[in-house]
Amino acid sequence: MNECQDFRHSISLTGDRPTGPLHLGHYVGSLKTRLSLQDTCSKQFIMLADLQAMVNENMGMSTIKSYINEVVKDYISVGLSPDKNVIFTQSKITPLHEIITYYNTLITLSHLHHNPTIKQEMEDRATHAGTHQHCVSNNDHNMSINMHFLLHPVSQAADITAFNADVVPVGHDQLPLIHLANDIVDKFNIKFGQTLKNVKPILSNTPRLSGIDGRAKASKSLNNAIFLSDTTDIVKKKVHSMYTDPDHIHVSQPGKIEGNVVFEYLTAFYPNQEHIDELKQNYTRGGLGDMFLKNMLFKTLEDFLGPIRERRAQVTDEHVSAILDTGSQIAFDIAQSTLERIKNSMLL
Ligand code: TRP
Repeated sequence: MNECQDFRHSISLTGDRPTGPLHLGHYVGSLKTRLSLQDTCSKQFIMLADLQAMVNENMGMSTIKSYINEVVKDYISVGLSPDKNVIFTQSKITPLHEIITYYNTLITLSHLHHNPTIKQEMEDRATHAGTHQHCVSNNDHNMSINMHFLLHPVSQAADITAFNADVVPVGHDQLPLIHLANDIVDKFNIKFGQTLKNVKPILSNTPRLSGIDGRAKASKSLNNAIFLSDTTDIVKKKVHSMYTDPDHIHVSQPGKIEGNVVFEYLTAFYPNQEHIDELKQNYTRGGLGDMFLKNMLFKTLEDFLGPIRERRAQVTDEHVSAILDTGSQIAFDIAQSTLERIKNSMLL
Protein backbone atom coordinates (compact mmCIF):
# COMPACT_ATOMS: atom_id res chain seq x y z
CA MET A 1 0.00 0.00 0.00
CA ASN A 2 1.24 3.47 -0.83
CA GLU A 3 1.83 5.09 2.55
CA CYS A 4 1.93 8.59 1.06
CA GLN A 5 -1.51 8.44 -0.46
CA ASP A 6 -4.10 10.65 1.17
CA PHE A 7 -7.23 8.71 2.06
CA ARG A 8 -8.75 11.29 4.41
CA HIS A 9 -11.78 11.80 2.20
CA SER A 10 -12.06 8.23 1.00
CA ILE A 11 -14.51 5.54 1.94
CA SER A 12 -13.01 2.05 1.92
CA LEU A 13 -14.79 -1.26 1.56
CA THR A 14 -13.52 -4.82 1.82
CA GLY A 15 -15.09 -8.18 2.31
CA ASP A 16 -14.12 -11.62 3.50
CA ARG A 17 -15.84 -14.86 2.76
CA PRO A 18 -16.35 -16.39 6.21
CA THR A 19 -15.16 -19.86 5.24
CA GLY A 20 -12.70 -20.34 8.09
CA PRO A 21 -10.83 -18.48 10.81
CA LEU A 22 -8.28 -15.92 9.63
CA HIS A 23 -4.61 -16.79 9.50
CA LEU A 24 -1.25 -15.04 9.33
CA GLY A 25 -1.55 -14.80 5.54
CA HIS A 26 -4.73 -12.74 5.94
CA TYR A 27 -2.94 -10.52 8.41
CA VAL A 28 -0.06 -9.76 6.07
CA GLY A 29 -2.17 -9.60 2.90
CA SER A 30 -5.13 -7.54 4.08
CA LEU A 31 -5.72 -6.98 7.82
CA LYS A 32 -2.59 -4.83 8.05
CA THR A 33 -3.87 -2.55 5.28
CA ARG A 34 -7.24 -2.29 7.02
CA LEU A 35 -5.55 -1.40 10.32
CA SER A 36 -3.84 1.49 8.63
CA LEU A 37 -6.98 2.53 6.72
CA GLN A 38 -9.12 2.62 9.87
CA ASP A 39 -7.02 5.59 10.98
CA THR A 40 -6.53 7.28 7.61
CA CYS A 41 -9.87 6.85 5.81
CA SER A 42 -13.00 8.82 6.44
CA LYS A 43 -14.87 5.52 6.87
CA GLN A 44 -14.15 1.82 6.42
CA PHE A 45 -16.75 -0.86 5.73
CA ILE A 46 -15.88 -4.48 6.38
CA MET A 47 -18.33 -7.02 5.03
CA LEU A 48 -18.74 -10.66 5.94
CA ALA A 49 -19.69 -12.04 2.54
CA ASP A 50 -21.78 -14.94 3.81
CA LEU A 51 -23.88 -15.31 0.65
CA GLN A 52 -20.76 -15.48 -1.47
CA ALA A 53 -19.34 -18.09 0.90
CA MET A 54 -22.51 -20.17 0.64
CA VAL A 55 -22.37 -20.28 -3.14
CA ASN A 56 -18.66 -20.31 -3.86
CA GLU A 57 -17.72 -22.84 -1.23
CA ASN A 58 -20.94 -24.81 -1.10
CA MET A 59 -21.00 -24.46 2.69
CA GLY A 60 -24.03 -24.72 4.96
CA MET A 61 -25.28 -21.60 6.69
CA SER A 62 -24.72 -22.93 10.22
CA THR A 63 -21.03 -23.53 9.48
CA ILE A 64 -20.76 -20.09 7.89
CA LYS A 65 -22.42 -18.50 10.92
CA SER A 66 -19.89 -20.01 13.29
CA TYR A 67 -17.08 -18.73 11.06
CA ILE A 68 -18.63 -15.26 11.01
CA ASN A 69 -18.37 -15.28 14.79
CA GLU A 70 -14.71 -16.37 14.65
CA VAL A 71 -13.74 -13.90 11.93
CA VAL A 72 -15.25 -10.95 13.80
CA LYS A 73 -13.25 -12.03 16.86
CA ASP A 74 -10.18 -12.14 14.60
CA TYR A 75 -10.88 -8.56 13.48
CA ILE A 76 -11.26 -7.23 17.01
CA SER A 77 -8.28 -9.16 18.33
CA VAL A 78 -5.88 -7.69 15.75
CA GLY A 79 -7.10 -4.20 16.61
CA LEU A 80 -9.83 -3.37 14.10
CA SER A 81 -12.16 -1.26 16.16
CA PRO A 82 -15.96 -1.48 15.89
CA ASP A 83 -16.00 2.26 16.62
CA LYS A 84 -13.87 3.07 13.60
CA ASN A 85 -15.27 0.48 11.17
CA VAL A 86 -18.71 -0.60 10.04
CA ILE A 87 -18.57 -4.38 10.36
CA PHE A 88 -21.63 -6.07 8.87
CA THR A 89 -23.16 -9.20 7.35
CA GLN A 90 -23.88 -9.26 3.61
CA SER A 91 -27.09 -11.32 3.83
CA LYS A 92 -28.67 -8.72 6.15
CA ILE A 93 -28.38 -6.01 3.50
CA THR A 94 -31.41 -6.89 1.38
CA PRO A 95 -31.32 -3.70 -0.78
CA LEU A 96 -28.23 -5.27 -2.40
CA HIS A 97 -30.46 -7.78 -4.19
CA GLU A 98 -32.48 -5.08 -5.85
CA ILE A 99 -29.32 -3.26 -6.88
CA ILE A 100 -27.98 -6.51 -8.38
CA THR A 101 -31.15 -6.90 -10.45
CA TYR A 102 -30.72 -3.44 -11.99
CA TYR A 103 -27.02 -4.00 -12.65
CA ASN A 104 -27.81 -7.33 -14.35
CA THR A 105 -29.61 -5.37 -17.06
CA LEU A 106 -26.31 -3.66 -17.94
CA ILE A 107 -24.11 -6.70 -18.30
CA THR A 108 -23.93 -9.55 -20.83
CA LEU A 109 -23.22 -13.22 -20.28
CA SER A 110 -20.05 -12.95 -22.33
CA HIS A 111 -18.89 -10.08 -20.12
CA LEU A 112 -19.08 -12.43 -17.13
CA HIS A 113 -17.70 -15.44 -18.97
CA HIS A 114 -14.64 -13.53 -20.08
CA ASN A 115 -13.89 -11.99 -16.73
CA PRO A 116 -10.43 -13.37 -15.82
CA THR A 117 -11.30 -13.92 -12.14
CA ILE A 118 -14.43 -15.89 -13.04
CA LYS A 119 -12.59 -17.75 -15.81
CA GLN A 120 -9.88 -18.83 -13.40
CA GLU A 121 -12.37 -19.85 -10.72
CA MET A 122 -14.39 -21.80 -13.31
CA GLU A 123 -11.27 -23.61 -14.50
CA ASP A 124 -10.36 -24.46 -10.91
CA ARG A 125 -13.82 -25.86 -10.38
CA ALA A 126 -13.85 -27.81 -13.64
CA THR A 127 -10.49 -29.39 -12.77
CA HIS A 128 -11.74 -30.14 -9.29
CA ALA A 129 -14.99 -31.69 -10.59
CA GLY A 130 -13.05 -33.59 -13.26
CA THR A 131 -10.84 -35.29 -10.70
CA HIS A 132 -13.82 -36.31 -8.64
CA GLN A 133 -16.38 -37.31 -11.23
CA HIS A 134 -14.12 -38.42 -14.12
CA CYS A 135 -14.65 -37.27 -17.66
CA VAL A 136 -16.79 -34.22 -16.86
CA SER A 137 -16.03 -32.04 -19.84
CA ASN A 138 -15.42 -28.36 -19.21
CA ASN A 139 -18.47 -27.58 -21.25
CA ASP A 140 -20.77 -29.77 -19.18
CA HIS A 141 -19.29 -28.29 -16.10
CA ASN A 142 -19.84 -24.72 -17.33
CA MET A 143 -23.50 -25.50 -17.88
CA SER A 144 -23.86 -26.71 -14.30
CA ILE A 145 -22.31 -23.57 -12.81
CA ASN A 146 -24.49 -22.11 -10.11
CA MET A 147 -26.11 -18.89 -11.34
CA HIS A 148 -25.15 -16.88 -8.30
CA PHE A 149 -21.56 -17.97 -8.74
CA LEU A 150 -21.56 -16.63 -12.30
CA LEU A 151 -23.19 -13.44 -11.11
CA HIS A 152 -20.93 -12.83 -8.14
CA PRO A 153 -18.96 -10.11 -9.96
CA VAL A 154 -22.25 -8.23 -10.26
CA SER A 155 -22.98 -8.91 -6.62
CA GLN A 156 -19.53 -7.60 -5.75
CA ALA A 157 -20.14 -4.49 -7.86
CA ALA A 158 -23.31 -3.96 -5.82
CA ASP A 159 -21.33 -4.42 -2.58
CA ILE A 160 -18.79 -1.83 -3.65
CA THR A 161 -21.18 0.81 -5.00
CA ALA A 162 -23.92 0.45 -2.37
CA PHE A 163 -21.67 1.93 0.32
CA ASN A 164 -20.22 4.65 -1.94
CA ALA A 165 -16.72 3.19 -1.69
CA ASP A 166 -13.85 5.13 -3.25
CA VAL A 167 -11.21 2.51 -2.56
CA VAL A 168 -11.17 -1.26 -2.25
CA PRO A 169 -8.05 -2.93 -0.83
CA VAL A 170 -7.70 -6.21 -2.75
CA GLY A 171 -5.23 -8.82 -3.94
CA HIS A 172 -4.17 -8.99 -7.62
CA ASP A 173 -6.57 -11.87 -8.32
CA GLN A 174 -9.54 -9.62 -7.59
CA LEU A 175 -8.55 -6.78 -9.95
CA PRO A 176 -10.80 -7.91 -12.84
CA LEU A 177 -13.75 -7.72 -10.44
CA ILE A 178 -12.93 -4.08 -9.70
CA HIS A 179 -12.73 -3.41 -13.44
CA LEU A 180 -16.12 -4.98 -13.92
CA ALA A 181 -17.59 -2.87 -11.11
CA ASN A 182 -16.24 0.24 -12.85
CA ASP A 183 -17.69 -0.94 -16.20
CA ILE A 184 -21.07 -1.22 -14.54
CA VAL A 185 -20.69 2.22 -12.96
CA ASP A 186 -19.74 3.76 -16.34
CA LYS A 187 -22.57 2.05 -18.20
CA PHE A 188 -25.06 3.10 -15.56
CA ASN A 189 -23.91 6.72 -15.56
CA ILE A 190 -23.97 6.94 -19.38
CA LYS A 191 -27.42 5.43 -19.61
CA PHE A 192 -29.12 7.06 -16.62
CA GLY A 193 -27.01 10.11 -15.77
CA GLN A 194 -24.21 10.60 -13.24
CA THR A 195 -25.27 8.56 -10.20
CA LEU A 196 -22.49 6.20 -9.14
CA LYS A 197 -18.84 6.69 -8.23
CA ASN A 198 -15.89 4.87 -9.77
CA VAL A 199 -13.69 2.95 -7.40
CA LYS A 200 -9.92 2.47 -7.12
CA PRO A 201 -8.21 -0.72 -6.00
CA ILE A 202 -5.52 -0.49 -3.32
CA LEU A 203 -3.03 -3.27 -3.85
CA SER A 204 -1.15 -4.53 -0.84
CA ASN A 205 2.60 -4.65 -1.57
CA THR A 206 3.00 -7.78 0.51
CA PRO A 207 1.67 -10.85 -1.27
CA ARG A 208 -0.05 -13.55 0.74
CA LEU A 209 2.15 -15.90 2.74
CA SER A 210 3.00 -19.41 1.60
CA GLY A 211 1.61 -22.37 3.49
CA ILE A 212 3.77 -23.90 6.21
CA ASP A 213 4.22 -26.92 3.90
CA GLY A 214 5.82 -24.72 1.23
CA ARG A 215 2.76 -24.59 -1.04
CA ALA A 216 2.07 -21.28 -2.70
CA LYS A 217 -0.92 -20.35 -0.57
CA ALA A 218 -1.82 -20.84 3.06
CA SER A 219 -5.42 -21.97 3.44
CA LYS A 220 -7.70 -23.69 5.86
CA SER A 221 -8.70 -26.40 3.42
CA LEU A 222 -5.06 -27.36 2.83
CA ASN A 223 -4.50 -27.36 6.59
CA ASN A 224 -1.23 -25.46 6.11
CA ALA A 225 -1.90 -22.15 7.83
CA ILE A 226 -1.14 -20.66 11.24
CA PHE A 227 -4.35 -19.14 12.55
CA LEU A 228 -4.55 -15.95 14.59
CA SER A 229 -6.50 -18.03 17.12
CA ASP A 230 -3.96 -20.90 17.37
CA THR A 231 -2.70 -21.75 20.87
CA THR A 232 0.98 -21.65 21.86
CA ASP A 233 1.26 -25.44 21.56
CA ILE A 234 -0.23 -25.52 18.10
CA VAL A 235 1.97 -22.66 16.90
CA LYS A 236 5.01 -24.51 18.23
CA LYS A 237 4.04 -27.71 16.41
CA LYS A 238 3.31 -25.88 13.18
CA VAL A 239 6.54 -23.89 13.24
CA HIS A 240 8.57 -27.03 13.88
CA SER A 241 6.89 -28.82 10.98
CA MET A 242 7.61 -25.95 8.58
CA TYR A 243 9.11 -26.52 5.17
CA THR A 244 12.72 -25.30 4.92
CA ASP A 245 15.37 -26.48 2.49
CA PRO A 246 15.00 -30.28 2.17
CA ASP A 247 18.66 -30.59 1.09
CA HIS A 248 19.93 -28.79 4.20
CA ILE A 249 20.61 -31.86 6.30
CA HIS A 250 23.63 -30.82 8.37
CA VAL A 251 24.01 -27.47 10.08
CA SER A 252 27.35 -26.92 8.37
CA GLN A 253 25.88 -27.22 4.86
CA PRO A 254 24.87 -24.17 2.85
CA GLY A 255 21.09 -23.73 2.86
CA LYS A 256 18.67 -22.21 0.36
CA ILE A 257 16.55 -19.14 1.19
CA GLU A 258 14.27 -19.36 -1.82
CA GLY A 259 11.15 -21.34 -1.00
CA ASN A 260 12.24 -21.55 2.65
CA VAL A 261 9.06 -20.79 4.55
CA VAL A 262 10.80 -20.07 7.87
CA PHE A 263 12.65 -17.16 6.30
CA GLU A 264 9.50 -15.97 4.56
CA TYR A 265 7.64 -15.78 7.89
CA LEU A 266 10.63 -14.23 9.68
CA THR A 267 10.77 -11.55 6.98
CA ALA A 268 7.07 -10.86 7.48
CA PHE A 269 7.07 -10.78 11.30
CA TYR A 270 10.53 -10.22 12.79
CA PRO A 271 10.92 -6.54 13.71
CA ASN A 272 14.61 -6.17 12.77
CA GLN A 273 15.14 -6.90 9.08
CA GLU A 274 18.89 -6.19 9.17
CA HIS A 275 19.25 -9.08 11.56
CA ILE A 276 17.29 -11.31 9.16
CA ASP A 277 19.57 -10.27 6.29
CA GLU A 278 22.61 -11.34 8.35
CA LEU A 279 20.97 -14.66 9.17
CA LYS A 280 20.19 -15.20 5.49
CA GLN A 281 23.86 -14.71 4.66
CA ASN A 282 24.94 -17.14 7.37
CA TYR A 283 22.41 -19.72 6.26
CA THR A 284 23.51 -19.49 2.62
CA ARG A 285 27.14 -19.80 3.67
CA GLY A 286 26.47 -22.79 5.95
CA GLY A 287 26.66 -23.13 9.71
CA LEU A 288 23.17 -22.01 10.70
CA GLY A 289 20.70 -24.67 11.71
CA ASP A 290 16.97 -24.89 10.92
CA MET A 291 16.23 -25.62 14.58
CA PHE A 292 17.75 -22.29 15.65
CA LEU A 293 15.69 -20.42 13.06
CA LYS A 294 12.50 -22.26 13.95
CA ASN A 295 12.93 -21.43 17.63
CA MET A 296 13.50 -17.82 16.70
CA LEU A 297 10.39 -17.78 14.50
CA PHE A 298 8.32 -19.44 17.24
CA LYS A 299 9.36 -16.73 19.70
CA THR A 300 8.67 -14.01 17.12
CA LEU A 301 5.18 -15.34 16.40
CA GLU A 302 4.43 -15.73 20.10
CA ASP A 303 5.37 -12.08 20.68
CA PHE A 304 3.03 -11.13 17.85
CA LEU A 305 0.15 -13.44 18.80
CA GLY A 306 0.29 -12.92 22.58
CA PRO A 307 -1.53 -9.56 22.64
CA ILE A 308 -3.92 -10.81 19.94
CA ARG A 309 -4.89 -13.78 22.12
CA GLU A 310 -5.37 -11.51 25.14
CA ARG A 311 -7.75 -9.24 23.24
CA ARG A 312 -9.59 -12.22 21.78
CA ALA A 313 -10.24 -13.68 25.23
CA GLN A 314 -12.19 -10.55 26.12
CA VAL A 315 -14.58 -10.68 23.16
CA THR A 316 -17.77 -12.61 23.88
CA ASP A 317 -20.28 -14.02 21.38
CA GLU A 318 -22.78 -11.40 22.62
CA HIS A 319 -20.28 -8.68 21.88
CA VAL A 320 -19.88 -10.01 18.33
CA SER A 321 -23.68 -10.09 17.80
CA ALA A 322 -23.99 -6.52 19.01
CA ILE A 323 -21.20 -5.34 16.68
CA LEU A 324 -22.83 -7.03 13.69
CA ASP A 325 -26.33 -5.76 14.56
CA THR A 326 -25.13 -2.18 14.83
CA GLY A 327 -22.93 -2.42 11.72
CA SER A 328 -25.59 -4.14 9.63
CA GLN A 329 -28.19 -1.49 10.54
CA ILE A 330 -25.85 1.33 9.47
CA ALA A 331 -24.89 -0.54 6.27
CA PHE A 332 -28.55 -1.29 5.50
CA ASP A 333 -29.54 2.38 5.69
CA ILE A 334 -26.71 3.44 3.39
CA ALA A 335 -27.45 0.68 0.84
CA GLN A 336 -31.14 1.62 0.96
CA SER A 337 -30.40 5.24 0.16
CA THR A 338 -28.11 4.21 -2.71
CA LEU A 339 -30.92 2.03 -4.02
CA GLU A 340 -33.29 5.02 -3.89
CA ARG A 341 -30.76 7.09 -5.84
CA ILE A 342 -30.40 4.33 -8.45
CA LYS A 343 -34.18 4.04 -8.83
CA ASN A 344 -34.58 7.79 -9.11
CA SER A 345 -32.02 7.93 -11.91
CA MET A 346 -33.74 5.03 -13.68
CA LEU A 347 -37.10 6.80 -13.20
CA LEU A 348 -38.53 3.73 -11.49
N1 TRP B 1 -14.56 -11.85 -3.25
C1 TRP B 1 -13.91 -11.50 -2.02
C2 TRP B 1 -13.08 -12.67 -1.56
O1 TRP B 1 -13.19 -13.73 -2.09
C3 TRP B 1 -14.91 -11.14 -0.93
C4 TRP B 1 -15.76 -9.95 -1.30
C5 TRP B 1 -17.10 -9.94 -1.46
C6 TRP B 1 -15.31 -8.63 -1.53
N2 TRP B 1 -17.54 -8.69 -1.79
C7 TRP B 1 -16.47 -7.85 -1.84
C8 TRP B 1 -14.06 -8.01 -1.52
C9 TRP B 1 -16.37 -6.51 -2.15
C10 TRP B 1 -13.97 -6.67 -1.82
C11 TRP B 1 -15.12 -5.91 -2.14
O2 TRP B 1 -12.30 -12.53 -0.64
